[in-house]
Amino acid sequence: MALDRKQTPNDLNAFWMPFTSNRQFKKNPRMFVAAKDMHYTTSDGRQVLDGTAGLWCCNAGHCRPKIVEAIQKQAAELDYAPAFQMGHPIAFELANRVIEIAPKGMEHVFYTNSGSESVETALKLAIAWHRARGEGTRTRLIGRERGYHGVNFGGISVGGIVNNRKFFGTLLAGVDHMPHTHLPALNSFTRGQPEHGANLADDLERIVALHGAETIAAVIVEPMAGSTGVLMPPKGYLEKLRAITKKHGILLIFDEVITGFGRLGSAFAAQHFDVLPDMMTTAKGLTNGVIPMGAVLTTAEVHDAFMQGPEHMIELFHGYTYSGNPIAAACGVATLETYKEEGLFERAADLAPYWEDALHSLKGLPHVIDIRNMGLIGAVELEPIPGEPTKRAFSAFLKAYEKGILIRTTGDIIAMSPPLIISKAQIDELIGKLAEVLKSLD
Ligand SMILES: Cc1ncc(COP(=O)(O)O)c(C=O)c1O
Repeated sequence: MALDRKQTPNDLNAFWMPFTSNRQFKKNPRMFVAAKDMHYTTSDGRQVLDGTAGLWCCNAGHCRPKIVEAIQKQAAELDYAPAFQMGHPIAFELANRVIEIAPKGMEHVFYTNSGSESVETALKLAIAWHRARGEGTRTRLIGRERGYHGVNFGGISVGGIVNNRKFFGTLLAGVDHMPHTHLPALNSFTRGQPEHGANLADDLERIVALHGAETIAAVIVEPMAGSTGVLMPPKGYLEKLRAITKKHGILLIFDEVITGFGRLGSAFAAQHFDVLPDMMTTAKGLTNGVIPMGAVLTTAEVHDAFMQGPEHMIELFHGYTYSGNPIAAACGVATLETYKEEGLFERAADLAPYWEDALHSLKGLPHVIDIRNMGLIGAVELEPIPGEPTKRAFSAFLKAYEKGILIRTTGDIIAMSPPLIISKAQIDELIGKLAEVLKSLD
């Protein structure tokens, strides 16, 4: 290692870790000190196979040379430039490259620094867009139960994960939720999109009837819900949602923070499902998770409504100090080049059937009550220990780590989303070791 850093810090107290059981962790820390391609190296020198692409973000794997070089070069050339009223070429280049691979109809890119900020940006854009067009009464935002849209106030308000909401007061006013699409009695062990549940989109008609369409700005959903435990959209559901939002003049936002950049075998889920929203929120895979960056993609119709009034006036009073940061943008360009040169989105599509078979081979193992998959994402749902929800899956996570595989758990659901460079042999290793873990659980 080039840097002389302590491999094991001697005081873990100061760092208050996010979404972590801090006390449990600090008694028995799990530390990664290096990474390369499909593997992490732990502080005790073990290799751990990355079954989750970090946090659903390192789609090209770790420490990829092109990305590392681009960051190094950019840091030495132009480290920072003001984001407001000044530009620098690479942010424009990245926006064009994102639009090149985006669904036809998406034409503009607004930069943020994370998925949460992309969500806040899209929600604000939706309300401001209606106002700019003379429909200022459209301020309501509609989300969905079990939705995850990051952790800021807008995102947790439209989101539907109870623990992410209930500790934080009254949240945004004027928000309503559609039902989630998880129907285990009808759809368990489905491969790909479930047959049942398209009619759940009709609930939006109920919400429209309740509040009046003229009060509703936007509907936001994850086209495939990741963080809540990998829930696939039932066949026909997203198409219905698109039709109903269009009919009532409501903007449709797809939160593609996980599904963007190849996870389902297409650049974006919108292409995979062939449904075009009005805006898409992205982050994570945009920069391979290496430098924090997010982006909201919009149609020309959304963007152009803001481009009015005197030309010296700012059109949108929104943005971040780091919107389009040069190093993040350079990282983004190198990431998109890596995806393209290595054909990683196609690779994900090609590997998907193998991944599906491997995952579903876990059916019948102890405690497994459902398995779901699509592209290179999959979930194994476990029967919770009575009275101790999340404990069984967390114990699987700890045992998996000891066995040298990184998985993710949410509730009693194990989620996996490996880098798109994973080999068939590595899929076998990941699923084989997970099978051993499942067999060993109480
Ligand atoms: C669909 C979705 N939206 C938003 C976010 C929030 O992203 P971030 O953690 O970068 O703020 C996530 C993170 O997992 C996500 O899955």
